[in-house]
Amino acid sequence: MKEFSANITKSILTGIQPSGVITLGNYIGAIKQMVRMQDEFKSYIFIADMHAITVPQDPTTLHENIRSLVALYIACGIDPDKNIIFIQSENEYHANISWLLECNTPFGELSRMTQFKDKSSKNANFYAGLFTYPILMAADILAYDVHYVPVGIDQKQHVELTRNIAIKFNKKYGDTFKIPDVYITKEGTKIMDLVNPLKKMSKSSENPKGVIRILDDINSIRKKIMGATTDSECIVRFDPEAKPGISNLINICVALTGKSISDIETMFEGKNYGEFKRFVADIVIEEISAIQARYQKIINSQELDKLLDENATITRAIAKKKFMLMKEKMGLYK
Ligand code: TYM
Repeated sequence: MKEFSANITKSILTGIQPSGVITLGNYIGAIKQMVRMQDEFKSYIFIADMHAITVPQDPTTLHENIRSLVALYIACGIDPDKNIIFIQSENEYHANISWLLECNTPFGELSRMTQFKDKSSKNANFYAGLFTYPILMAADILAYDVHYVPVGIDQKQHVELTRNIAIKFNKKYGDTFKIPDVYITKEGTKIMDLVNPLKKMSKSSENPKGVIRILDDINSIRKKIMGATTDSECIVRFDPEAKPGISNLINICVALTGKSISDIETMFEGKNYGEFKRFVADIVIEEISAIQARYQKIINSQELDKLLDENATITRAIAKKKFMLMKEKMGLYK
């Protein structure tokens, strides 16, 4: 059974919903950060399938997406020997902890979550789970006493709520949770939609041309990047306000190559957008085709099931301990 090395003392945790194939945004915003940090931290990464069901899902597709996302994590460089990769719904203590936290979260504070306001305004017939979703996220994080939560900026408010819930709980019942910090890298903050660079690249976007999915056909990735919305200035310059499309493509380059913004600007001085886009397409395709090749080797492996069973046992034991402590603190029978 997996054990973290004794000289690694700090921990990180993140999760992604299996609500469709992950995007370049998820890869840069969350997965790449985890890969970069996996040697120095105890790393937990899970499939947030219980978050996915806060909006309607087709059961067969959801089931396939869950396994596919596990394989994608590994294909993207999440090393199963350095990370505990697990499925949220296989650990019933997340939902149990969530309920105890729900009874300690002010309604008003939850009502302020911008993601809820945004998602509920798009469909008036939403379910209660969409509203309480950030509390389940708090449970995911607080169960493991992690130091950092690597996410994209769209999840920052949820991690801040998690901190508030934990601080209040500790004050009311005595020391129970570690207070986690959000961890966001500059270039991974927010990858934007290629067609409408004013909104984030999202799994649920209506226009597939604006979204690069990690399992997209390579030719279609090139087409999407070559067709990305730009501006009429014809200068490769970083200015998210005035030039959101070009700035987004620069951000993608920075995240994937490790070059700085000014390196990219200098490389393309006096060159046209066509040349720049070809460069972006080449680097994205190089990265994604390597992931796709690894994915094909992993997806049908039985090792995957063994790994998930083992990790479910490990994470259940950790989260159960936290649940029992919470019950005791709150005066529940145990
Ligand atoms: P989800 O599935 O919407 O997104 C997964 C991760 O990808 C990041 N992300 C992006 N980053 C940069 N640019 C983008 N365009 C972009 N789109 C998405 C998100 O910020 C996120 O880090 N509630 C979470 C899942 C979750 C979780 C957790 C995360 C559940 N429990 C505990 C961390 C800790 C979600 O729906 O992410």
